[in-house]
Amino acid sequence: MPADVFTAPLKKPGHLGDDWLEPSQAQYDSDQDAIWNDLFERQMGVLPGRAATAFMQGTEKLDLGRGGVPEFKRLSEELDALTGWSVVPVPMLIPDHVFFWHLANRRFPAGNFIRTRETFDYIQEPDVFHDVFGHVPMLTDPTYADYMQEYGKAGWKAMKYNRLKALGALYWYTVEFGLIEEQTGDIRAYGAGILSGPTEAVFAVEAESPNRIMLNVDRVMRTDYVISDLQPTYFVIESFEDLYRQTVERDFDKLYRNLPPAFTYANSAVIDVDYVVNRGTQEYLLRGGRGSGAKPA
Ligand SMILES: [Fe+2]
Repeated sequence: MPADVFTAPLKKPGHLGDDWLEPSQAQYDSDQDAIWNDLFERQMGVLPGRAATAFMQGTEKLDLGRGGVPEFKRLSEELDALTGWSVVPVPMLIPDHVFFWHLANRRFPAGNFIRTRETFDYIQEPDVFHDVFGHVPMLTDPTYADYMQEYGKAGWKAMKYNRLKALGALYWYTVEFGLIEEQTGDIRAYGAGILSGPTEAVFAVEAESPNRIMLNVDRVMRTDYVISDLQPTYFVIESFEDLYRQTVERDFDKLYRNLPPAFTYANSAVIDVDYVVNRGTQEYLLRGGRGSGAKPA
């Protein structure tokens, strides 16, 4: 992709090539390995029964609790044997078109740094714990792994039509904050933004505040979202096959031609075409959310 379609206001550090990859994974010291171990243990105290079965199985297949920040080389070899994916180190958030290119080639870019004790509970930029613990286990699921590759390929078309915002909402409501109904009434999380933090793992699955609505790709791509607080709405899939079909079989040319540039629906809206699993009280949002110290109920 030529430089004039560069899509994000990001300045590339001088030592990186056009692929934005770090030449090697960072070396983590024992304090940093201990941060990984503590984060891992905290999540494992919360996730059983709340995380998707595929996710829990992925953490075991890749042995993410073997101690310390996982070594990308070994992780990539194991992942490659399962679904042909690898994990590659990046310094920070990278431009959209580079990110898409890596996904389209079954490479998952992961932050080459870990949060500190001071930022243990919340960090703005995705670190190695969010990226590896949150995202990589799902890449052991063959259908989900294919969905992620297709998402990367879909990026080019969204750029052509200038509808990256809409495609970003699809990523947000599936890859980051997606829920799956594994059996009737048994809703679990598969989104990395939910699975890498203790509060949202409980809130997304059990709280009364948020809406839970069956995923409809057209509707989701018209829906605004919250970046730095718990979501007012989560979208639920029936299966990863359903997620794959809904996106890959969609005529995105037609969709983009009709899609307005701005979002149509507020992030807490329930609309008449929705198949609602739970209609939320929105109590958390109405009390003012994170800034007000509202309880995530
Ligand atoms: Fe993420």
